[in-house]
Amino acid sequence: MRMISYCITYNAHSLNFGVQIINHGIDPEFMDKVDEVGKQFFGLPVEEKKKYARENGGYEGYSNHIIDSKDQAFDWIDRLYLVTKPEDKRQLKLWPENPQSFREILHEYTAKIEKLNEMLLKAIARALTLEENCFLDMYGEDASMLSIFNLYPPCPRPDLAIGLKPHADASVFTYLMQDKEVEGLQFQKDDPWYKVPVIPGAFVINVGDQIEIMSNGIFKSPIHRVVKNTEKGRMSLVMFCFPNPNKEIEPVKGLVTETRPRLYKTMKDYTSIVVENYQKGRRPIEAAKI
Ligand code: OGA
Ligand code: NI
Repeated sequence: MRMISYCITYNAHSLNFGVQIINHGIDPEFMDKVDEVGKQFFGLPVEEKKKYARENGGYEGYSNHIIDSKDQAFDWIDRLYLVTKPEDKRQLKLWPENPQSFREILHEYTAKIEKLNEMLLKAIARALTLEENCFLDMYGEDASMLSIFNLYPPCPRPDLAIGLKPHADASVFTYLMQDKEVEGLQFQKDDPWYKVPVIPGAFVINVGDQIEIMSNGIFKSPIHRVVKNTEKGRMSLVMFCFPNPNKEIEPVKGLVTETRPRLYKTMKDYTSIVVENYQKGRRPIEAAKI
């Protein structure tokens, strides 16, 4: 696995990281297939896509930026939102059967990302000279994974619409497959925004809030957004990895010392805290700080 960093800042207390990884063990041809089934799905007639439409009150399934324009304000985006783990939580009726290979490919992709996530959780422990499984044990075996295919349609007035509003991810890690041609993702560091370049075959890795907590603030979850393109549509696929909501997370023991006191509370079901704070316009990580 090789990391290519952009927007990386380091001081004695924390590491703000936005990285892309290559040589991660997932075959570029397989990544192409994943990209292709996503694009094929979005390319279907609306009537066909609506077979998998999000139900009232739910969040999984397909949603269309036109139908949603009232409640989504300025996020101009088509989405397919599917929980892929644990397997017994899959709502298969919302998993497209067109293209035919969609379900099988998403299943396989989930397994590959799960492996990669384990590798990364071990790698950060080793990098901090901690016991290799300290993050992985807290993450647990019955974790959740959520995939979102995002299609940002071209927008004639990018000044009026943002692709995706500034936010940090609530995950442990997020694995993002960018569009192969169209840029749009940006990270904020201090005030300025930095573009994330497109690197073929790479994953963009976002540190989520839950790694910020587990690492006692050594890794910070960065604020990012997506800006619109006037002429070209952009597709991305994000896979969020979360611990099981019943599992408690907290700073790992080896990272709480006299010189670096504990900065975060013990948390459970972090995603529900996200929803509460989002409505109040606050960053959920603030609620986790001591
Ligand atoms: C997200 C996200 C970025 C992208 O869904 O949380 O940051 O490029 N997506 O779609
Ligand atoms: Ni995000």
